[in-house]
Amino acid sequence: DIDFDVKHGLEGVAVAISSISYIDGEKGKLVYRGFEIEDLVENSHFEETAYLIWFSSLPNENEIDFITSMLAKKRTLPKKIIEMMKSFPKNAHPMGVLRSVVSLLGMYSKKDSSTLENAINLTAKIPTIIAYWYRIKNNLPLIPPKESLKHSENFLYMMFGEIPKHSDLFDKALILHLEQGMNASTFASTVTASTLSDIYSIITTAIGTLKGPLHGGANEKVLNMFKEIKSVENVEPYIYTLISNKEKIMGFGHRIYKTYDPRAKILKHWIKDLFLKDNVEYFEIALKVEEIVIKEFKEKKIFPNVDFYSGILYNYFNIPSEFFTTIFAMARIVGWTAHAMEYRKNNRIFRPRSIYNGPKGLKYKEVKGVE
Ligand code: CMC
Repeated sequence: DIDFDVKHGLEGVAVAISSISYIDGEKGKLVYRGFEIEDLVENSHFEETAYLIWFSSLPNENEIDFITSMLAKKRTLPKKIIEMMKSFPKNAHPMGVLRSVVSLLGMYSKKDSSTLENAINLTAKIPTIIAYWYRIKNNLPLIPPKESLKHSENFLYMMFGEIPKHSDLFDKALILHLEQGMNASTFASTVTASTLSDIYSIITTAIGTLKGPLHGGANEKVLNMFKEIKSVENVEPYIYTLISNKEKIMGFGHRIYKTYDPRAKILKHWIKDLFLKDNVEYFEIALKVEEIVIKEFKEKKIFPNVDFYSGILYNYFNIPSEFFTTIFAMARIVGWTAHAMEYRKNNRIFRPRSIYNGPKGLKYKEVKGVE
């Protein structure tokens, strides 16, 4: 066993060869299938970029019609699942509900495979699960999906009964979250895929991993921090207390980005524009938090990550903070499924090692004191 070397948190270890996305952590660049995300958020939309990630090239007219109609037609949930959701405890966390309903859907699926068709089907259903849970939790009547609406618009419509202004920014925010290399949830779900398990198990694994506050769960924690801070004057004492207690500041730091996360940069830019036109809560608090953290952690190269600014945008659309991580999942399922299918093309089960450092040579009878 001493021949092995532990890479704590698998830092610097590559576990797959992938053509899905490329990250330059020093320059702050994120590229999907060769296209920079700045280009994609400017010119593309959710359905088109999802197609790009799944199929490796941008769709032509027929192909975009195909993916759009597939995503629109598969939005409904089995009636029995909706009935079960109504019996869930109303205080259940939306990520727990999403994880559980994806798992339940697995029992209603005839096919136990992980094809692209399964991936699209589940991608279509996730917004319905989230919006239905929001309505059930708040004792509101359910709003069934509308096939004529785009993926992102339909989600907002099922949540609130109308499509809010600036909904294009919500669509673009989904693009920013679609894919990010071998992050924790993608890795976890690739491990599940490597055992040849089914898509529902793969995505249940991914959602459970994304939920943690060091990963996707950070977006909810960031907004809760802003709520606690309350005003710009309170930022300094609040943040310096966290720093002196050596607590992690949510929404900062990244294993790969050692500069400003390009997704956070784009989100900040949109929010700044909105702020000049409209009432955007917490933006001024966020700017002050960012200023202090960047200054104090200059040597450690800690900058805002995607979760620092995304919540301000979701809050602008009246989405409650406990639903934020489900929005992340709603987009990232595209990356999860793309990686699972890519890995399966050259599959080998993940089976790393741990180095044993426990006792050896214990004798049952001696320890238990039996003759
Ligand atoms: N606040 C304060 N210090 C930090 C932070 C932070 N947010 N992030 C890293 N550090 C410090 C850390 O204490 C360590 O210091 P030292 O070397 O003195 O022990 C150093 O920076 C390296 O950090 P690490 O924890 O070893 O870095 P990692 O690559 O293992 O973890 C991370 C990356 C994202 C989990 C971590 O930065 C973190 O916990 N951030 C806060 C949670 C967060 O915002 N997560 C969202 C990640 S981005 C999108 C997503 O995946 O959802």
